[in-house]
Amino acid sequence: AQRMTLPALLERKKNGRKITALTAYDYSMARLLDDLELDLVLVGDSVGMVSLGYDTTLPVTMDEMIHHTRAVRRGIGRALVVGDMPFMSYHVSDEETLRNAGRFIQEGGAEAVKMEGGTKLAGRIRTVVDAGISVMGHIGLTPQSIHQFGGYRVQGKNYYDARQIKKDALALQKAGVFAIVLEAIPAELAAEITSELDIPTIGIGAGKECDGQILVLNDLLGLNQEFTPKFVKRYAELGEAVQNAVQHYLDEVRSSAFPGAEHAYDLKRKPLREAGN
Ligand code: KIV
Ligand code: NA
Repeated sequence: AQRMTLPALLERKKNGRKITALTAYDYSMARLLDDLELDLVLVGDSVGMVSLGYDTTLPVTMDEMIHHTRAVRRGIGRALVVGDMPFMSYHVSDEETLRNAGRFIQEGGAEAVKMEGGTKLAGRIRTVVDAGISVMGHIGLTPQSIHQFGGYRVQGKNYYDARQIKKDALALQKAGVFAIVLEAIPAELAAEITSELDIPTIGIGAGKECDGQILVLNDLLGLNQEFTPKFVKRYAELGEAVQNAVQHYLDEVRSSAFPGAEHAYDLKRKPLREAGN
């Protein structure tokens, strides 16, 4: 299969073929996804909640992100790998932002990075893009701002907030992002933004008119036993499947049904001569 490229992603805006994207956090899942020829894999800072057990994405560090990005990269041959810049890695200065964005490319092997933020972040994003590092935007519900929002709530429901999100989208496009994630905003607003932009939108809780869709892999697989937002569709119940399989294993170990003869090794047979034939 042909390798996905950033220009090919932009092309989707014109030809109307939907962009398929998911998060991944490790090698084995990345391998499974890549066989299916999805377009983009985001190593999301959601790794903090999904794999590391933090309550929010805020504690996630650059080193943790690089560690997971490298693992995912090793499993992906075709899709674009995008590294999610964690909280405080692009907030202090242009210099720190460039160094951290560069690490995702140089150490992580990612093709691009993602940052949360709109108009106020546009200048910084421009600096990164000018350094030759591709950036994906992310507006609407931006989980690194959870405390400012006062919780994970839908953004852009009223006219003024919606107008601001639209402005943010246009500012990011102008700053040079190659795509924008729209998270948890009304479908109508996402549709409007999608039709006004020249670059693709990738929605998560933003309706079907976006140019593509992304979900947190563990959510769609039903591996998340905790709260699932309204915008998640659980395509499997792997959490249940894992527990059923492990329960079965536990039972068989306790009853000595496992391992069976077919899982055990035999002693080498004696050579024929020594056996007296
Ligand atoms: O961290 C993440 O998983 C994300 C996606 C949900 C867009 O930012
Ligand atoms: Na994220």
